[in-house]
Amino acid sequence: MKPIIVAIDGYSSCGKSTVAKALAKYAGYTYVDTGAMYRATALYVYRQLGDGALDKEAILSMLENIHIGFVKTAEGQHVTLNGEDVESLIRTLEIGNMASQISTIKEVRAFLVAQQQAMGQNKGIVMDGRDIGTVVFPQAELKLFLTAAPEVRAERRFLELQAKGETPVLEDVLADVNDRDYRDTHRAESPLRQAEDAVVVDNSNMTREKQMEYIIEVFKGRCATV
Ligand code: DC
Repeated sequence: MKPIIVAIDGYSSCGKSTVAKALAKYAGYTYVDTGAMYRATALYVYRQLGDGALDKEAILSMLENIHIGFVKTAEGQHVTLNGEDVESLIRTLEIGNMASQISTIKEVRAFLVAQQQAMGQNKGIVMDGRDIGTVVFPQAELKLFLTAAPEVRAERRFLELQAKGETPVLEDVLADVNDRDYRDTHRAESPLRQAEDAVVVDNSNMTREKQMEYIIEVFKGRCATV
């Protein structure tokens, strides 16, 4: 069967990476978590500038020193920043927020989008993010748009943070989810939006298993037609 490109977009904390990883495993495809690329870039910026006001010119001058990669691990993959495994360092609320902020900068997006497009040259890829079906791969054979109610996503994120030993407050996590949704959908550059030809999956009331069954059926159907 011919390999295809699967583009998965959606709001933060709606399970995009879980779906993308599982689908990539099922299909034997490469998985690319583009949020991790924005987060690793944010970590580099944070280390240089701290979390004060973002200085766009300073950030742009750093881009040439930022080299992002992925390494395979037993449970999937980890993102690297200049050769350092930064997977756990980037999964904090602080870096998530910073990633959301730097992702509004046009040049930062162009820098990462070019790398993402190069990764998809041979197809056989599942990529998740906010602009994959609209900007990175508008020609993707399968586009999925994942969504869930903000309260459901906040609860999931809250439990994930707790499991990592953090002590989150549910109201703060919900406020953060809403802020991030607003920024992701209202930014001038490549705002999060559903591609017209995307299959929408609202998983607010769906088990992971049911969701995967449905998505695998859609994937198989799409592969059969290319
Ligand atoms: O999916 P995530 O929470 O790891 O993404 C972190 C931030 O990066 C998110 O707030 C928006 C940004 N992002 C983006 O603008 N475009 C992408 N393709 C992926 C992530």
